[in-house]
Amino acid sequence: MPTASFHFPRGFLWGSATAAHQVEGNNTNNNWWAWEQEKGRIQEGHKSGLACDWWGGRWKEDFDRAAEAGQNAHRLSVEWSRIQPAPDRWDEDALERYRLMLRGLRDRGMTAMVSLHHVTDPLWLSEMGGWETEAVLPLFEKYVRKTVEALKEYCTLWCTINEPNLNALEAYLEGIYPPGKHDLKLAMKVLANLARGHAAAYHAIHEIQPEARVGYALHYRPMVPARSWSWSPLDRLVRNIQYNGLCIPFPSALATGVMRTPIGNVRIPEAKGTQDYIGLNYYSEDSVAFDITQPGLLFGRRHYPKGSDISENAMIANIPEGFYRSLKWAVKTYPGLPILVTENGIEDSTDRIRPRYLAQHVHQMWRGVNFNWPIKGYFHWSLVDNFEWERGWTQRFGLWALDPETQQRTKRPSADLYAAICKENGLSSEMVKQYCPEIFEKMFPG
Ligand code: FCB
Repeated sequence: MPTASFHFPRGFLWGSATAAHQVEGNNTNNNWWAWEQEKGRIQEGHKSGLACDWWGGRWKEDFDRAAEAGQNAHRLSVEWSRIQPAPDRWDEDALERYRLMLRGLRDRGMTAMVSLHHVTDPLWLSEMGGWETEAVLPLFEKYVRKTVEALKEYCTLWCTINEPNLNALEAYLEGIYPPGKHDLKLAMKVLANLARGHAAAYHAIHEIQPEARVGYALHYRPMVPARSWSWSPLDRLVRNIQYNGLCIPFPSALATGVMRTPIGNVRIPEAKGTQDYIGLNYYSEDSVAFDITQPGLLFGRRHYPKGSDISENAMIANIPEGFYRSLKWAVKTYPGLPILVTENGIEDSTDRIRPRYLAQHVHQMWRGVNFNWPIKGYFHWSLVDNFEWERGWTQRFGLWALDPETQQRTKRPSADLYAAICKENGLSSEMVKQYCPEIFEKMFPG
């Protein structure tokens, strides 16, 4: 039987993504460590603890795994509370440790992408009110300048802030991230400050390193109304409110200098044009239904359609077409701007669904590449199982499984599939046949 393959352009970045607090261990000086100590905050009372012990040096063996598996890039984050343990103190040893890690990537022939802020804040900043007031802006810029100066030898690809849109809502509307508030107005204020912080970081990084490519990672969810318009105009209404609350504020601020939110517009002129690529985190697509019992969620209940191909804790539905729609949205919103898929993956401890999720999402990305959409790289979340925020260790996103007690890693079949994709710079029918034969007919009809 003839084989088919979906090839990617030369120089395409294939990597995985991680975040400091989720992999380093013993990040005792940030707001998440404190949050984990509070009863009832994290599922099953889990704690990040030693995480994947990267701070203890196990990044070396994990980078070896990634490199041997053909990955030519890695996205990691640095931890603000380590680099600046107190407002008046820098930790040069911590910076040196990050330099070592980035050199480790270079030695393995891998391109580094560094996120400067991924969910956590130093405890001292949270105690001052975090991103609730503009007092954070000069502090963030100072930290960014210090860090970029120290790491610029090893990195030119920067992500200022990971998922500012999701974080603001989870921390200030849903209340499942610290500080656990339920206040839409404050959530939008925080979001505006995050956009101001991003803009300040963008300009500062370019001043220090003119050749830098700077962006942020947007959590994008293409939402659809649960029932058609004729059935339920209310579903469409709440869908629009939810979508406009999550997916529109940051992109509108960067496109026009005016942040559009469901409760009004905020002028942030300095944010206009502050991205050299669009970083897209895509996991799934939601259906949104009107629900009178959910005022805290603006009367919208998000769920996955019946019969979805769903992950083991029902956290993620495998909807690859939603990924295609997300990429298309990015191309239409920012014509000509390079796209990096900064996160994509699924929680699946047994690797029952991940191989087809991976193959189908790579396939959708290839469809975009064929329209000459400027997609430049893909970072799978994640390399090794790690600490999943309020879901603790209950969710397993790794290409490698991790036992956090023994620190033992075990390769999942998806790691081999992804290695084959990275090494081939594409996905072939043989790979699909070997790793996820159940979708073969659908992907290669006839
Ligand atoms: C994203 C986060 C990342 C990880 C994945 C599963 O929203 O950016 O840190 O938790 O979800």
